Amino acid sequence: MLKQDTPTHILAVNSRTPTPDWDKLSFSFSETDVMYRSFGDQTQDPIWDEGEYLPFGAIELSPAAAFMSYGLGVFEGLKAQRSDDGRILLFRHRDNGLRLQKSAERLLMAPFPEDQFVEAVEEIVRRNERFVPPKGKGTLYLRPMEHAIENKLGLGPCEKFLVTIYSSPVGSYFSLKAAEMPKGLRIRCLEQGRVAPGGTGFAKAMGNYAGGITIAANWREKGFDDVLYLEAHHKKYITETSGSNVFVLLKNGTLVTPPLDDQILPGITRDSAYQTAKDVLGVKCEQRPISIDEAIEDAEEIFCTGTAWTVRNIGEIVHHDKTYTFEKNDLQTSLLQEILSYQTGEKEDPFGWVKEVKL
Ligand SMILES: Cc1ncc(COP(=O)(O)O)c(C=O)c1O
Repeated sequence: MLKQDTPTHILAVNSRTPTPDWDKLSFSFSETDVMYRSFGDQTQDPIWDEGEYLPFGAIELSPAAAFMSYGLGVFEGLKAQRSDDGRILLFRHRDNGLRLQKSAERLLMAPFPEDQFVEAVEEIVRRNERFVPPKGKGTLYLRPMEHAIENKLGLGPCEKFLVTIYSSPVGSYFSLKAAEMPKGLRIRCLEQGRVAPGGTGFAKAMGNYAGGITIAANWREKGFDDVLYLEAHHKKYITETSGSNVFVLLKNGTLVTPPLDDQILPGITRDSAYQTAKDVLGVKCEQRPISIDEAIEDAEEIFCTGTAWTVRNIGEIVHHDKTYTFEKNDLQTSLLQEILSYQTGEKEDPFGWVKEVKL
């Protein structure tokens, strides 16, 4: 078990970890200098310690730690990026903190304080500043996590938790850049749910992802970029892909995205795309169930949103072994440009979503 009495201290890091070749970045892990951790104990007041910044490295855990058997862990993903003039900007990171709390509460884990989250995320960016890629080359991806770490043999609620935040410079999620994939993503629609009705789908919980790896890997081998899951009970309505929310622009000009429920993760990019489409681009937007049949028949454009992908168009959906193509991507392109322009500080963000990390 990690020692809980480690004094809180700020480490002067004198790391020799080289920064990566910015031109060869992919969406894969590479080490940075500093990580953050904070211990929580529900029997204490306050529950959470002040947290500390440590050189990136292995952590020691008991094999009996609850999350090792029972998957009591939740996580987040967000990115910091550079503006043209070299400033470092974070996008809606407080919302990631709020979602981490909601995810933790679903698993009866203590919510990590919002302000402490915001401060730790900003400090991790600051301390790993040399790993934030130059503008246009990629982003510094942050991975905050919370795990139940007490020894636990039987299934039940836990009292001791660990929050860890590490970071990694990343490039595009796909090896091909968007410009080289004008046709958009190739998606296989599956007659199954990603998660169970009444389950943990609205939480970013470890267990939601493990089972999907084999499914997505199987279809990736057959040349698809990802899979699209349907609502688990009726197997009729669109939910989301392995790691992104879905929007359908109908031929009548209305943009539709499925409403949030227990099978859909409340994506921060989803909310950003929805608000930008409605309030900035003046598009009529609806959150309502949309069947795969309606989407296939009536879609002008289909696209996905997520931190890794931002906004990516779907060029092809294969459903029941029939292929449907979507040639247009005008709204997707406008949304991508608009949101990227906020994230990179090119345009003033009208929603107050962007925060500069002062060095
Ligand atoms: C299942 C799932 N849906 C949607 C998203 C998109 O969410 P966000 O836009 O907050 O990255 C993610 C990524 O976190 C995800 O894992």
